[in-house]
Formats: sequence, structure tokens, C-alpha cells
Amino acid sequence: MDLSIVALFMLVLVGHGALLDDQCPVERCGNVAIRFPFRLKDNKPPDHCSYPGFELSCKDRKQTLLQLPDSVKLYVDKIDYASQLIIARDPDECLPKQLRNFSLSGSPFESGYMELSNYSFFNCTSRKGDGYDNWYLDCLSGPGYIYAYTSDNSISYTDLTNCTKLYNLSSVPSETFEMKNTLHLNWSTPHSGLCEQQGKFCRRNSSDSLHTECYNKPKSKEGKTKKIEAAGENFGIFKFFPYLATSKLD
Ligand SMILES: *[C@@H]1O[C@H](CO)[C@@H](O)[C@H](O)[C@H]1NC(C)=O
Ligand SMILES: *[C@@H]1O[C@H](CO)[C@@H](O)[C@H](O)[C@H]1NC(C)=O
Ligand SMILES: *[C@@H]1O[C@H](CO)[C@@H](O)[C@H](O)[C@H]1NC(C)=O
Ligand SMILES: *[C@@H]1O[C@H](CO)[C@@H](O)[C@H](O)[C@H]1NC(C)=O
Ligand SMILES: *[C@@H]1O[C@H](CO)[C@@H](O)[C@H](O)[C@H]1NC(C)=O
Ligand SMILES: *[C@@H]1O[C@H](CO)[C@@H](O)[C@H](O)[C@H]1NC(C)=O
Ligand SMILES: *[C@@H]1O[C@H](CO)[C@@H](O)[C@H](O)[C@H]1NC(C)=O
Repeated sequence: MDLSIVALFMLVLVGHGALLDDQCPVERCGNVAIRFPFRLKDNKPPDHCSYPGFELSCKDRKQTLLQLPDSVKLYVDKIDYASQLIIARDPDECLPKQLRNFSLSGSPFESGYMELSNYSFFNCTSRKGDGYDNWYLDCLSGPGYIYAYTSDNSISYTDLTNCTKLYNLSSVPSETFEMKNTLHLNWSTPHSGLCEQQGKFCRRNSSDSLHTECYNKPKSKEGKTKKIEAAGENFGIFKFFPYLATSKLD
């Protein structure tokens, strides 16, 4: 075969490949779309398609899992890319249980709904009335009644007879106690929501830079297929105009 035709084929293929690589992958785990700045841990998208600290895993192909530093694991139910917000929950429906190891420092996330507060935990032998400064933690209670008290208000206002002190926790999201099992986490860097709000996607502007840039979404889910078809049509040219190919073959 004529080398120039082989070269032409190669050009079409290479050009085509570059087009695909230009777009970062959009994965799906259950109902959660996973794209920049996130990536699935087991996948290795091009460097510019993910951002440090935004690794997720996919359990049983349906549960999106976020692991915070110190082995706290959360299920992710929703990622709002435009507002840079994650809605997460504890896999065992007991967020307070994970709080002793809970820390957002060392992760890109902040408490996205309520501020962080300090709490003192108590184990009481009798049930207390619920107050504005205490929360009964059903899922931690066994033989004893476990309460979290905000340390910010004066604990001395509350009757703590029949209670023994367990531990203090600092800088945990108040939401954990007020919303039971929902945790909103948001991030400020990268500012990918800016692109999303314009109907675009975001990526790093190069693999060795943490700066980001917006790019146009593929027109539809079939965008890739269309391009493959288009590439196929290029080959088709040789079918309809065989002389283009054969004239050089003899
Ligand atoms: C906290 O993390 C350690 C390992 O870093 C683990 O052994 C321990 O079980 C965790 N505690 C809770 C309450 O999850
Ligand atoms: C994250 O949420 C907190 C609390 O709602 C808010 O104050 C903060 O501005 C949010 N950060 C970003 C980047 O949206
Ligand atoms: C919580 O405790 C930390 C120290 O562990 C302190 O720096 C912080 O100011 C406290 N926060 C509040 C709201 O009291
Ligand atoms: C709370 O106290 C009871 C005894 O009154 C004990 O059996 C239980 O293990 C304690 N719970 C915790 C979490 O320490
Ligand atoms: C726990 O927090 C309370 C209220 O802020 C404080 O009085 C107490 O000294 C703390 N205890 C420990 C062991 O840090
Ligand atoms: C403390 O426990 C005793 C015995 O269980 C009970 O009679 C009393 O009402 C409790 N006190 C408070 C303040 O809960
Ligand atoms: C990435 O963006 C930054 C800030 O806008 C810019 O300084 C840098 O030159 C860009 N890098 C590339 C490879 O475009």
C-alpha cells in the first residue's frame, strides 16, 4: 500500500484520538455523576482531569464513597457541581459514631451548611429532656443514654446529675446533631463551579498546574460516537471514490 495513504489513515486516527483525550471522563456511580474535580480512585484519568484530594470510590457499582483523612468514610448521595457542594451521610446511619476521628483539615472540604462547634459527650443513666444545648444520640446509646452538649454554651446551666463525662470533640459540624444523618461538605478550591454555572466543564489547564480552565461540554452523550462516525466517513471516502485509493496502489 502506498505510504502516503497509510500516513493519511494515521493522521485521521491520531487527530481523532486527540479530540477524545481533550475531554475529561464523566463517570457514574449509582446516581452520582463523577467528573472534575473528582475522580474515581481506581480509574486513572489524565492528570489535568482531576484535582488532589478529590478521590472517590464506587462500592458495588452503586454507592459513592468519600474517605476523609483519619479513616472516616461517608456515602455521597449528591454532588452539586455548580455550588461546589457534596451531600453525604454515614453508611451506618450514625454520623456521631465517626466524629471522634472526624477532621476536615487535610481535606479540601469545609462544613457546607452549619459551622463547626465544640461538644462534650456524656453518658447518663437516665433520659434527660432535650434542651437547646444538648442532643440525645440514639445510635450511640446502649446501656447508657449518650448526650452531646455544646461546649460553647455554659454546660453548668444543664443538669448533669446521673451523667459521666465521656470526651470532648472540637471542630465538628453542628449539622451532625441537628440533621441526624446528613452532612453537607463544600469546597472553595478549585473554583470549578464558575465553569459549571456557565454550562461548561472545568479542568486543570495543564497536568503540572493547579490552575483551572473552562471548556465546552460535549454536545450530547453521543458526542463521542458522532466523532467516531465522522472519522468513519473519512474512511468511507475511499469507498465512494476508490480511485483515490487505487490510483496510487498500482
Ligand atoms: C478511628 O481511626 C482509627 C484508625 O485511624 C480506627 O482504628 C478507629 O476504629 C477509628 N474510630 C472510629 C470511632 O471510627
Ligand atoms: C461553604 O459553606 C459555608 C457554610 O454554609 C459557607 O459559609 C461558605 O461560603 C461555603 N463555601 C463555598 C466555597 O461555597
Ligand atoms: C473549639 O475548640 C478549639 C480548641 O480545641 C478552639 O480553638 C475553638 O475556638 C473552639 N471553638 C468554639 C466555637 O468555641
Ligand atoms: C455508659 O454507661 C453504661 C453504664 O451506666 C455502660 O454500660 C456503657 O458502656 C457506657 N457507654 C459508653 C459509650 O461509654
Ligand atoms: C471539655 O470541654 C469543657 C467545656 O468547654 C471544658 O470545661 C473541659 O475542661 C474539657 N475537658 C477536657 C478533658 O478537655
Ligand atoms: C437520676 O437517677 C435517679 C435514679 O435512676 C432518678 O430517680 C433521678 O430522677 C435522676 N435524676 C435526674 C436529674 O435525671
Ligand atoms: C495556567 O493558568 C495560569 C493562570 O491563569 C497561567 O499562568 C499558566 O500559564 C497557564 N498554563 C498553561 C499551560 O496554560
